[in-house]
Amino acid sequence: MYYEHHRYIDKVCVVTGAANGLGLSLCTRLLEEGAYVGALDIEGDTLKKVFAGKEDRLLPVEVDVASKPSVDAAINAVIERFGHIDVLFNNAGIIGRQSLLDSTEEQWRRVIDVNLNGTFFCAQAVLRHMVDKGIKGVVVNTSSVASQIVSPKTGAYSASKGGVTMFTKFAALEMAQYGIRVCAYGPGTSVTRITDGTRNDPDRCAMFLRNIPMGRFGEPDEATSVALFLGSDEASYCTGQTWIEDGGNTLF
Ligand SMILES: NC(=O)c1ccc[n+]([C@@H]2O[C@H](COP(=O)([O-])OP(=O)(O)OC[C@H]3O[C@@H](n4cnc5c(N)ncnc54)[C@H](O)[C@@H]3O)[C@@H](O)[C@H]2O)c1
Repeated sequence: MYYEHHRYIDKVCVVTGAANGLGLSLCTRLLEEGAYVGALDIEGDTLKKVFAGKEDRLLPVEVDVASKPSVDAAINAVIERFGHIDVLFNNAGIIGRQSLLDSTEEQWRRVIDVNLNGTFFCAQAVLRHMVDKGIKGVVVNTSSVASQIVSPKTGAYSASKGGVTMFTKFAALEMAQYGIRVCAYGPGTSVTRITDGTRNDPDRCAMFLRNIPMGRFGEPDEATSVALFLGSDEASYCTGQTWIEDGGNTLF
């Protein structure tokens, strides 16, 4: 697909979870739209591989978003390289597949740490920078259809994404006075490795598809289009909301 937008010319954007799936799609489209990109991921080697040759406009940084010191160092590295940050796409995330009774403390905590606490650490570091520098920037958080509905064995994930949706409202409320917008988008089941377990299990796959009126899973580019709209000036009066992008999954 060819996109003709140029909404991000010379904007400095940070994408977490940049090495795969939706984050990789986001970075690719941002570069096409003229942005400078800080590409953050826990998979440092994958980052280097997928973005080889793009280093003139992209800085790969290894980070664990669940660790505040690691996040602070990564955000500082982007500011040092590009001077400031205009837009943060808070995208890093993991899924856990354990039933309520079988979940260990460690499994539950890791999902909440990466998806919810990681979103907070990255947003706080970037928002503090924006407020200090008077930048009227944007944060786009990644929630999920799972913030609205639950499915078997993904309770920690749903809890974390429900938290991201509410954190987005809270952050939008406090940041509006600085001219900073905070939005979120909530993809439905999309074709990335995080959903391999669902898409490769015939029974689970059929159950998911039965509940999607459009009858198919989403493509990464379709989710990315929503995130890029929310992060751009086209969404200049949008803040605090989570845009669900799910082929109708939450209609009934
Ligand atoms: N694919 C879907 O169906 C779907 C639906 C709704 C929401 N989402 C959300 O979209 C986001 C991207 O997921 P995806 O589908 O592209 O999955 P993915 O596994 O392809 O990509 C996630 C990326 O996050 C990185 N990551 C994981 N833990 C990290 C950490 N601690 N620190 C830094 N990076 C880390 C991974 O290395 C990976 O590159 C996630 O927040 C996910 O919850 C995905």
